[in-house]
Amino acid sequence: MNLTLKIWRQKGANDKGKIIDYAIGDVSPDMSFLEMLDVLNQDLIEKGEEPVAFDHDCREGICGSCSMFVNGQAHGPDSMITVCQLHMRSFNDGDTIYIEPWRATAFPVIKDLIVDRSAFDRIQQAGGFISVNTSGNTQDANSIPIEKENADNAFDAATCIGCGACVASCKNSSAMLFVSAKVSQFALLPQGQVEATDRVLNMVKQMDDEGFGNCTNTGACEVECPKGISLENIARMNREYLSASFKG
Ligand code: SF4
Ligand code: FES
Repeated sequence: MNLTLKIWRQKGANDKGKIIDYAIGDVSPDMSFLEMLDVLNQDLIEKGEEPVAFDHDCREGICGSCSMFVNGQAHGPDSMITVCQLHMRSFNDGDTIYIEPWRATAFPVIKDLIVDRSAFDRIQQAGGFISVNTSGNTQDANSIPIEKENADNAFDAATCIGCGACVASCKNSSAMLFVSAKVSQFALLPQGQVEATDRVLNMVKQMDDEGFGNCTNTGACEVECPKGISLENIARMNREYLSASFKG
């Protein structure tokens, strides 16, 4: 396949940035999208030009770092996958593909397609953990009975990979889907009850402090989430928040 790539290039946080056109040939339909970018970068390096900076790590849909817009859609045209799982067979010979970084005030661009998602780390640090007694008297987790429905819902919430597609797809740049997944995975389990009140209050406060917008129930986050995190988690977080506000 021969393709035209229109890629957002931005030297640094204070650079204005612009779209630059690149022609790329000999693209195999079996290549992943990131492998196609690797080939482009190899060409650029051989020509003495600056390669395109993009984040990646696991390349198997687990780490959440390969975050970018492909033709205006978070993680590209296919659903329930990350960019590293997107393959060039999803495109046609002669296509023009727009590749851009996430756009959100709380995710400032560092370089080209890489944004700073450390706001998510700070939200996690505010409450995305449990405290366990490791003195030797710890109860074996397998001996704690948990309803199957709660266990399944907690597991589903825990599959959030922190990619930020929910924020990038939301017209308000809301992080509610991400935060609600992190709150829910503990709210549904007995191990999460000890810190439940502080957790939801602190994580929501940190979310607001980081400059994420509010949720207006448009549901774009759920549609673009590569892990299928459900809006039900936002409803659960709102219930947790309300009840914690009365207790707190
Ligand atoms: S909720 Fe979905 S879109 Fe948002 S960070 Fe988690 S995995 Fe990514
Ligand atoms: S590189 Fe890890 S999810 Fe894509």
